[in-house]
Amino acid sequence: MTIDLTKTEDGYALLTLNRPEALNALSFDILRRIGAAIDEVAGWRDVRALLITGAGDKAFCAGADIKELRNRSLTDQKRGAELGQAVFARLDRLPIASVALVNGYAFGGGAELAMACTFRLASPNAVFGLPEVKLGLIPGYGGTQRLPRLVGEARALEIIMTGRNVAADEAERIGLINAMAQGDLMQAGRDFAGRFTRYSLPVLDCARRAVQRAADTPLHEGLQTEADLSTLAYRTRDAEEGMAAFEEKRKPEFRDE
Ligand code: CAA
Repeated sequence: MTIDLTKTEDGYALLTLNRPEALNALSFDILRRIGAAIDEVAGWRDVRALLITGAGDKAFCAGADIKELRNRSLTDQKRGAELGQAVFARLDRLPIASVALVNGYAFGGGAELAMACTFRLASPNAVFGLPEVKLGLIPGYGGTQRLPRLVGEARALEIIMTGRNVAADEAERIGLINAMAQGDLMQAGRDFAGRFTRYSLPVLDCARRAVQRAADTPLHEGLQTEADLSTLAYRTRDAEEGMAAFEEKRKPEFRDE
């Protein structure tokens, strides 16, 4: 088994990278399976967020499978990078948010997978890094683009060009993760997701899409996107319900409509 995809009883999809003997390293086969799993989750109407974690107590994911990377043609190398990028980009197109639960090493492609998720929580023993320079490589599954968006260009350059480790407390301080979780990481992930999944899913989707545009759009275009998406949210039944509930001084009952 290389990945597991299940539904939790409280309404989350749970994707577990399950190759602990290789610290959940991403073979091309696993990458494709992750892509298929994300597509499957996109069709599930009864889950409110996707949680992603790694099996075992040592690693979330130690990156691309280095043994597979050797002796490849340049064309295959480029296709591999494009495959990883395309698989992780599918997380953006999911109609629900994704939360990486980083339970140990998140190196290279593993850090890149976590960064492609909407949110990141980490256990205190988590260690992040983009150590590709140590292999004579650079990140290829989105790290050079997503890390500076999260932590700023100067920090991203330093982390990528030195290949150094970033411990969980530093990751929290610099904004690479949303929070460091004390105690059970899975429970912390559910609690974290529960803070937003009680709201209307289509409205949350509008918010997510608007914020995601901020990173790669000039301000005037981003503001136009915001106007369009806020109008879309306004047209939902849940917006009508939310505003009515405010006036009637009661709790809203959102129906994801
Ligand atoms: N690919 C393939 N196998 C890996 C692996 C990887 N990325 N990371 C670990 N493994 C395997 C090891 O080869 C080892 O297998 P064997 O027992 O068969 O030898 C097993 O997992 C356990 O690993 P270690 O014995 O090395 O465990 P450790 O606790 O001593 O060290 C570690 C842990 C510091 C994470 C170390 O394994 C390591 O440095 N791994 C490589 C991390 C890395 O460089 N990642 C970037 C990959 S390139 C990339 O991801 C490019 C990109 O942008 C997509």
